[in-house]
Amino acid sequence: MNLHTKAVHAGDRKKASQAIPVTTPIVTASSYLYESMEQLDRVFSEEDEGYCYARYDNPTSHALEEVITCMEGGFGSLTTSSGMSALQVALQAALTDRRRSIVAAGALYGASTRMLMSVFEPAGVDVRFVDICDLEAVQAAITDARPGCVLLETISNPLLRVGQIDRIAQMAREAGAATVVDSTFATPLLVRPLELGANLVVHSLTKYLAGHGDVLGGVIVSDEPHFATIRALARICGPNLGPFESYLAMRGIKTFPLRMERQCANACRIATSLASHPGIAKVYFPADPNHPDATTIQRIFPAGLYGAMISFELKDAAREQVFAFMDRLKLVVRGTSLGDVHSLMSYPAMSSHRDLAPKHRQRLGIGDNLVRLSVGIEGPEDILADLEQALG
Ligand SMILES: Cc1ncc(COP(=O)(O)O)c(C=O)c1O
Repeated sequence: MNLHTKAVHAGDRKKASQAIPVTTPIVTASSYLYESMEQLDRVFSEEDEGYCYARYDNPTSHALEEVITCMEGGFGSLTTSSGMSALQVALQAALTDRRRSIVAAGALYGASTRMLMSVFEPAGVDVRFVDICDLEAVQAAITDARPGCVLLETISNPLLRVGQIDRIAQMAREAGAATVVDSTFATPLLVRPLELGANLVVHSLTKYLAGHGDVLGGVIVSDEPHFATIRALARICGPNLGPFESYLAMRGIKTFPLRMERQCANACRIATSLASHPGIAKVYFPADPNHPDATTIQRIFPAGLYGAMISFELKDAAREQVFAFMDRLKLVVRGTSLGDVHSLMSYPAMSSHRDLAPKHRQRLGIGDNLVRLSVGIEGPEDILADLEQALG
């Protein structure tokens, strides 16, 4: 056999042995071979289960989708190359066969707001922003816009507002709209939006679910009616997560509930302590009894689990003082992400909400003295000591 032929064929396509790998392996093949073309044809048409092409399905990603579907209580999931690509596919699926109109929470991750304004609006979708925690305003916007989709975050980024997902999903359903919830900050440990009536749940896998700061990914968890559309869109547009990333996320998820419990407990302790610090003007944390959405939080979050994000405003500080404070941090990592095992601090005006006009940020309440802390799994006394020495 020609060396070129050997180089291309030797070693590959061995029949799987009887043994079942205990953990999911990384399967990198982009296409699959069957005993006969008839069989391949049945796999293509989905008469038979199986893999034919990596854009359609991949065993490593499929295993990851299964565990996330199971945790969120969904019908099926699609993993994608980033949280933003998950959001794009979810919104497209929600608008399929519906009015091209979205009612969205005013308080969203900055890039999500930008996606609505610079991708969906120019494509002819009417977008209205509303205070998602004001149910009367939400109902008025839904009645007026008759949207195809309502979009909100379970815990908003970065001011940690919490809307009544169940009531909003009901209003949306009565108007014929689908509800899409970005649940990245809450995770399925706190809230499972599908159980509250949402249709599609989006996560940035990059954050708590993968949890180690080494993978970019997203996922859409779907109810039964939307899953075929999600899969059809993915087959055509190819937003897939690669098998290496799927493996990393799958490995991370095994300890996600443990990590998240610890992170939530750490966050409660740190938020309480920061609230009485003289250098801090205001702390935003869902366990605060004076939180504007305290009643909703008590109703939909499990006791003791309030998430692991804390935002706070430095007293009498502008950008320069905030930078100096962040530069003094020694343990807490100055990073633009969240949800990792290590604590991370970001400056929303420069990172997550950088693309919004300063006036837009001000309207949302994201001041130049606001920082956002993602609490990690370290010893809480070490995180606090670092914050205190940096606050001075
Ligand atoms: C709430 C929220 N949704 C979506 C995203 C986007 O995720 P990704 O960076 O994986 O695209 C982020 C990123 O920070 C986020 O905070």
